[in-house]
Amino acid sequence: MTRKLYLETFGCQMNVLDSELVMSQLRAQGYEAVADRAAADVVIFNTCSVREHAEQKVWSRLGELREAKADRPDMVIGVIGCMAEREGESIFTRFPHIDILCGPGELDQLPRMVHNACTTSVAPSEGGAGSATVGSPRQVALMGSTTRRSSTYETAKEDNLESLDLARTVSPSDNMRQAYVRITRGCNKFCTYCVVPFTRGPEVHRPPGNIVEEVKMLVGAGALEVTLLGQTINHYIFDHGGGRKTTFADLLYLIHESVPDLPRLRFVTSFPRDFTDLALQAMRDCPRICRYLHVPAQSGSDRILKAMNRGYTAEQYTDFVDRARAMMPDISLASDFIVGFPTETDDDFASTMELVRHCRFKNSFIFKYSPRPGTVAIDRFEDDVPDAVKRSRNNQLLALQGEVCASNNRLMIGKTVEVMVEGESKLVSKRAYPPAKVTLGWEARQGLPAGEAVSLTQLIGRTRGDQVVCFDGERSLKGELLNVEIVDARNLTLFGRRVPMHVAKV
Ligand code: 5AD
Ligand code: SF4
Repeated sequence: MTRKLYLETFGCQMNVLDSELVMSQLRAQGYEAVADRAAADVVIFNTCSVREHAEQKVWSRLGELREAKADRPDMVIGVIGCMAEREGESIFTRFPHIDILCGPGELDQLPRMVHNACTTSVAPSEGGAGSATVGSPRQVALMGSTTRRSSTYETAKEDNLESLDLARTVSPSDNMRQAYVRITRGCNKFCTYCVVPFTRGPEVHRPPGNIVEEVKMLVGAGALEVTLLGQTINHYIFDHGGGRKTTFADLLYLIHESVPDLPRLRFVTSFPRDFTDLALQAMRDCPRICRYLHVPAQSGSDRILKAMNRGYTAEQYTDFVDRARAMMPDISLASDFIVGFPTETDDDFASTMELVRHCRFKNSFIFKYSPRPGTVAIDRFEDDVPDAVKRSRNNQLLALQGEVCASNNRLMIGKTVEVMVEGESKLVSKRAYPPAKVTLGWEARQGLPAGEAVSLTQLIGRTRGDQVVCFDGERSLKGELLNVEIVDARNLTLFGRRVPMHVAKV
């Protein structure tokens, strides 16, 4: 019997990839993905714990399912990902109707757990929490409960999760143009505010050969852009034994050389302290590596950076940015900031504003500090910055980043850039932008029959530097790489028009 599966993903790109891998395994076992939760036999939430807000969304989803589960006790409900690991079995006290609890480090066990849950007809209230054994009414697999990982620098050979990545399958019919590939799992940094080292466990580096094979497979299935993933990606180093090591820079050269058909290679997220000149040189030397870095600063105040355990000063951060720009003047940089970290004063915040002015980021993701259970910061510091102050600092930083963005964008006018078309612009779908029936000029007419009117809509695409560009084109262009000339920069958005291929790329 084919069971219908609804999988909803919250949080970061790592979760998006985890969901894809899990879905591909479950599909192979005969589960059918559905978009309508009400029609599903199995409902799984892949969750995020980084901020309280992300968890609240999942709590409310689980609340909504309480009645559905009472009506249909055979429906299977699973919570996977960081929230499963962080909450642990205490989640059953609040929501006894959950059948599956699986941390991000145990996802290779999920297909078996789903199968067990579907083939066991015990009502959830009858079963106690326990380990994931066949026939158990509740299926639980948590890193905390199984301690599968003991050593900090464990290699992927002993890492059972590797099997999940290795089992990935895609086919040309998936029409996949953009894809993620994990190169490291977990994190060893222990920034004091962050749950990730507790939920995803210690850093594990995947063997370079497996990574290259995965990239080749994705490109063979049509991918034009591959984004390598890791929490602190530039910390990648694989120890082959016998003194031979593959560093992050080596890996970039290796992928670039081994997969010449891949037009765009990117990677996120970088940690400022670990960036070697060799890795920057690899970016400079390999034309198909996008000159884009997401390298979170978090704060511009040395005192706050120390309290966060970030391991660098504001000066070391700006030196890194200057070093990267000296090597690649066209590099596009993005950052994350936390405002209202405990004890943050107006002066500390002024230093953050100063850092943003200096670094001229393409964009910044700005978050209000959210105390997370289990972290050092929640034990060590009182959450003493009032919410109104956090909000005001958030808005001030956003406004400054907006100014930086607008001035960066104005410099783009007149340039021709390569964009990957991601689809219709959100603005269009929201306002039902009327697709215009127009007779196209030469620039938009490439590949179309001569003289015919065609429907255009506003599309969005991303440059190699991750800037968003809006331009008119047909919906069918989704997933294509095109050249677009920037003709306008209004507020934070770039506007362009299509130009013929084979022109210089920015
Ligand atoms: N509160 C607010 N923001 C946080 N982040 C991580 N933990 C917290 C927290 N407790 C932010 C950081 C990180 C991004 C993914 O989320 O800026 O880079
Ligand atoms: Fe969290 Fe810091 Fe690791 Fe990033 S580097 S995942 S912020 S602990």
